[in-house]
Amino acid sequence: MVSCEQVLALLAKAFVLITMLPGSEQGAHEKRLLKNLLDEYNILERPVANESEPLEVKFGLTLQQIIDVDEKNQLLITNIWLSLEWNDYNLRWNESEYGGVKDLRITPNKLWKPDVLMYNSADEGFDGTFQTNVVVKHNGSCLYVPPGIFKSTCKIDITWFPFDDQHCDMKFGSWTYDGNQLDLVLNSENGGDLSDFITNGEWYLIGMPGKKNTIVYQCCPEPYVDVTFTIQIRRRTLYYFFNLIVPCVLISSMALLGFTLPPDSGEKLTLGTYFNCIMFMVASSVVLTVVVLNYHHRTADIHEMPQWIKTVFLQWLPWILGMGRPGKKITRKTILMNSRMKELELKERSSKSLLANVLDIDDDFRNVSAGGNNASMTTSLGGGFMRHPTTIEEAAMPSSGTQRDLQHILRELQFITNHMKKADEEAEVISDWKFAAMVVDRFCLIIFTMFTIIATVAVLLSAPHIIVQ
Ligand SMILES: *[C@@H]1O[C@H](CO)[C@@H](O)[C@H](O)[C@H]1NC(C)=O
Ligand SMILES: *[C@@H]1O[C@H](CO)[C@@H](O)[C@H](O)[C@H]1NC(C)=O
Ligand SMILES: *[C@@H]1O[C@H](CO)[C@@H](O)[C@H](O)[C@H]1NC(C)=O
Ligand SMILES: *[C@@H]1O[C@H](CO)[C@@H](O)[C@H](O)[C@H]1NC(C)=O
Ligand SMILES: *[C@@H]1O[C@H](CO)[C@@H](O)[C@H](O)[C@H]1NC(C)=O
Repeated sequence: MVSCEQVLALLAKAFVLITMLPGSEQGAHEKRLLKNLLDEYNILERPVANESEPLEVKFGLTLQQIIDVDEKNQLLITNIWLSLEWNDYNLRWNESEYGGVKDLRITPNKLWKPDVLMYNSADEGFDGTFQTNVVVKHNGSCLYVPPGIFKSTCKIDITWFPFDDQHCDMKFGSWTYDGNQLDLVLNSENGGDLSDFITNGEWYLIGMPGKKNTIVYQCCPEPYVDVTFTIQIRRRTLYYFFNLIVPCVLISSMALLGFTLPPDSGEKLTLGTYFNCIMFMVASSVVLTVVVLNYHHRTADIHEMPQWIKTVFLQWLPWILGMGRPGKKITRKTILMNSRMKELELKERSSKSLLANVLDIDDDFRNVSAGGNNASMTTSLGGGFMRHPTTIEEAAMPSSGTQRDLQHILRELQFITNHMKKADEEAEVISDWKFAAMVVDRFCLIIFTMFTIIATVAVLLSAPHIIVQ
């Protein structure tokens, strides 16, 4: 339960706090000052005591960074802080009358400010500045420092690339006041302030001189004043030297030097040899791709598949890589069986009867044509193999008309089946080559992937530190 005394004590404290609030008189002074200054203020009024005298505006800029030099679009993008300083006749006060308030920060849309713009701007919004507060001092001096990203047009001449200098102008001036009303003055003889400049990797900043130009056109008596700063930059040739020329020379010389290194020198895999490896890899991948394409487009009538390619690319490698073909399972057993079958086939071919070899037909045909007299025929023909095939027929066949027809039909059939067999064989050879190409491709993929990973890991591990904090 809160006692009555506690409540009273709290109330007393609150009362003391409330009565003490006006004691912090700073806020009240500033409020009064702002009210007195701005109530009667007209932002359209050029703040001069004598209307016939120009208002002097000290102008300067601080180059922070060259963001981009766009050669193609002839643009220069920079980060710049402008600096405008003038004295506003209407913003003066006696600081001792306002509790020692020396200065104020006022948003620019509440004050008159010089309408200074960059004439050669290529920005979408034309004026790329950020409207910061204006610092107003008791004697009326106003300081306005708007930062901005400036996109300016610049005639870029790349005749001497990469040994070129570029001069990019930035012309500032009042858009509406002439020289009799607003007088731009350079705030520094040295031109732009470069003390905060962040160096550019591609361009070396030679200087940024500024110049005030006063031009009197024939049409009108009043002078027009502008301040032009010239950003003088020189392309860093070292950049191109180190980024284009040196790597090329290094890589090509590494490729040669790599062969002269003794294998037992115990050298670590340096970045240079890494380059070497990569280049070698790229070159060999091109060569192997050519091989693959060559294999892929081979046909049976030009290229017979050598036995070693069959064994290596159609059996062993696919088995190692775990590749399969539809309808043809590849296991160790099938590979061994295949080679056994090859041997048998060879043996069979050599043992095939001479008649079959001469006629280029299978033994079954001879069986049929022999008309059940196979044994005698084999022996008889085996002895007189020089005889012509037609005479064989005549000799073997009884001269019956229907049998002759049958014989003829058989011949035709033999021709057709032979043709189909040959087409089948050709298709098989083509598909064999395609499969071989696929196998080589897969093999290269695996080997090159392994190579890349191992080389990269080796280089990264040999580096003293990988992540720079
Ligand atoms: C205003 O300036 C002009 C030119 O400087 C001068 O002739 C004139 O006397 C000035 N007027 C006042 C009120 O100071
Ligand atoms: C500022 O005000 C004080 C007191 O009101 C006065 O003494 C002083 O002379 C004034 N200063 C100026 C520059 O007018
Ligand atoms: C205004 O006062 C500041 C110091 O408070 C001084 O640096 C500046 O020069 C003065 N400006 C003028 C125009 O008197
Ligand atoms: C070969 O001929 C015999 C008898 O003429 C026959 O029994 C056998 O089936 C034939 N062989 C073939 C493969 O046609
Ligand atoms: C044909 O030859 C096979 C073996 O060469 C034999 O088994 C078969 O009896 C023969 N047929 C005739 C009809 O002689």
